[in-house]
Amino acid sequence: MNIGVFDSGLGGLTILKALLKELPEYNYIYLGDNARVPYGNRSAETIYEFTKQAVDFLVKKNCRLIIIACNTSTATSLRRVQREYLPKFYPEIKVLGVIKPAVEKLFERKFARIGVIGTRATINSKAYVKEIKKLLPNSIIYQQACPLLVPYIEDSGRNKKTLDSILDEYLSSLKKRNIDALLLACTHYEIIANEIKSYMGAKTNVLTEGIIVAEKLKDYLDRHPEIEKKIDKQKKVEYHFTDANSDYKKLKELFLG
Ligand code: DGL
Repeated sequence: MNIGVFDSGLGGLTILKALLKELPEYNYIYLGDNARVPYGNRSAETIYEFTKQAVDFLVKKNCRLIIIACNTSTATSLRRVQREYLPKFYPEIKVLGVIKPAVEKLFERKFARIGVIGTRATINSKAYVKEIKKLLPNSIIYQQACPLLVPYIEDSGRNKKTLDSILDEYLSSLKKRNIDALLLACTHYEIIANEIKSYMGAKTNVLTEGIIVAEKLKDYLDRHPEIEKKIDKQKKVEYHFTDANSDYKKLKELFLG
């Protein structure tokens, strides 16, 4: 069997890249729904439908363990997939997301004043706030939706001046809050992590999710040897995209390196 990795588009390749670095021995199938990206401005119901379709596809590709690398899908749909869809159609399949690993990392590092940035759907779902409060009930959390960042990162004509003004628009109030951690809760943001770090200054720890998800998946597989031993280990990676548009090769290079 394979490990499935799903994202709304190509941004999830930042997560796959970390998985390939930390856990290179396994076979992976990546699915990017680039025909319908971005999910971030869609309704929770639509994202749930798309996420179920992705699960169907990856199950057909012999994935028994699926990582939803997309924050927007995780935030709006993971619980429903786990509680409603899997028990009915695929009781033997495990689907994991990116929120729990990231929140566990915030807990381990005992952050108290936390900023979370993501798409509109991720922020509106309050999924991060709910999960952080379970582990860090006394923490203070500030959320900010950054809908312009995904198109900015995907746009080939990126320039620093535009980014500076977008960051200023979204991050200036977070910067005034004296947060000790800023979680980049979107697959794409890792690409501009350095710019975000220099904007926020040295006092704020900027956390990207790729490495965290890889580390937590390693823990998970150590704790579940019955799953680990069934995963094929030929280091094969298959990529599937729902649209072979002209941008996808360029974006694959950007996100995967
Ligand atoms: N992959 C999405 C996420 O991590 C960002 C792109 C989108 O809006 O679909 O939230």
